[in-house]
Amino acid sequence: MAKKSSKGKPKKLARKAENERAAAVAAAVKAMNEASASGDFLAAQYPAFTRYDRKGLTAALRFYAAPELPPALLDWALGLTRDHMAALYEACPGWGWSDAKKRAELADPAARYLVVFEQQPAAQVQQPGDAAVGAAGGAAPPAAAAAAGDAVAPAAPLTAAAGTAALEAPAAAIAADEQRENSAAAGNTSSAQAVPGSSSSGSGGGDGCLPGRPVAFVHFRFEVEEGEAVLYCYEIQVAAAAQGKGLGRFLMQLLELVGRRSGVARLMLTVFHANTAALALYNRLGYVLDDDSPGAVDPSGDHKYEILTKRLPAPAGATKA
Ligand SMILES: CC(C)(COP(=O)(O)OP(=O)(O)OC[C@H]1O[C@@H](n2cnc3c(N)ncnc32)[C@H](O)[C@@H]1OP(=O)(O)O)[C@@H](O)C(=O)NCCC(=O)NCCS
Repeated sequence: MAKKSSKGKPKKLARKAENERAAAVAAAVKAMNEASASGDFLAAQYPAFTRYDRKGLTAALRFYAAPELPPALLDWALGLTRDHMAALYEACPGWGWSDAKKRAELADPAARYLVVFEQQPAAQVQQPGDAAVGAAGGAAPPAAAAAAGDAVAPAAPLTAAAGTAALEAPAAAIAADEQRENSAAAGNTSSAQAVPGSSSSGSGGGDGCLPGRPVAFVHFRFEVEEGEAVLYCYEIQVAAAAQGKGLGRFLMQLLELVGRRSGVARLMLTVFHANTAALALYNRLGYVLDDDSPGAVDPSGDHKYEILTKRLPAPAGATKA
């Protein structure tokens, strides 16, 4: 038998290793999706984060996988997103706003939600379809909206390196939150009480009983991007009356914690250039331009949006998917 050339062997081995790595990442993301596909992922795994009580806002948080999201909440999320984003979408050439497209995106089975419900001591529990559910997406009192805008500094310009220095602060905040959560799990249940008005089963909320008036949500998904497992934040929306109370920061940091614990390599999101409040938030939290973002690919171009990313530190001794 003639001698066979072994020249192609290293390439073949490299390809095989790459295919194995890609399969491992895909399997890890599938597992993340399955782990969060039903039930109350938040109450079960992050019990200390089922409540928010800061800056005059008392609220309960619930997790939903899209198939379990009550229809009235989906309508509310669509309305709130339309109120905040339609003009920005319309200003982006080739995008435009479409209720049908956004509804389909929000209802995608891979969509995962954290929804914040404002609670008032004397407030009765809202049912899906109540007027208050629809009203939450409407305009806020002008004073509240103005206060949210006036109280914060204008967004700093975002560059690929802008977030590096800011990386430590959110990481420290999350570490502190994790510590708080661990102590809650160890027996201090003060921050993990049952949500008034909700069923005590800890179900994902398909029970139709909402623990208050919805005021904010994040829509996220576990996905593969550039060969890595990522947590992609598709949407963060805080109703105008609840803005400026730290909810946006809290929800983004909670996503970071979920991403870190799930084992993703980084968080990603898309933001319009004109959205200065959102840019300021992401800048503060250490997000930087993704290598594939229009502004990174063509820094001199006139871009309407950017893709931002935040790499998560690998837990000691762990390998990222
Ligand atoms: C962007 C948004 C999510 C921020 O939520 P929020 O709860 O009001 O924000 P927070 O109170 O947590 O503020 C967090 C940080 O964001 C920045 N920020 C928030 N609102 C701002 C504003 N109007 N102008 C400038 N910076 C702002 C501040 O720097 C603040 O920093 P700090 O925590 O160090 O003080 C909220 O304004 C919103 O829902 N806007 C409409 C929808 C939207 O644009 N979503 C983002 C799509 S990419």
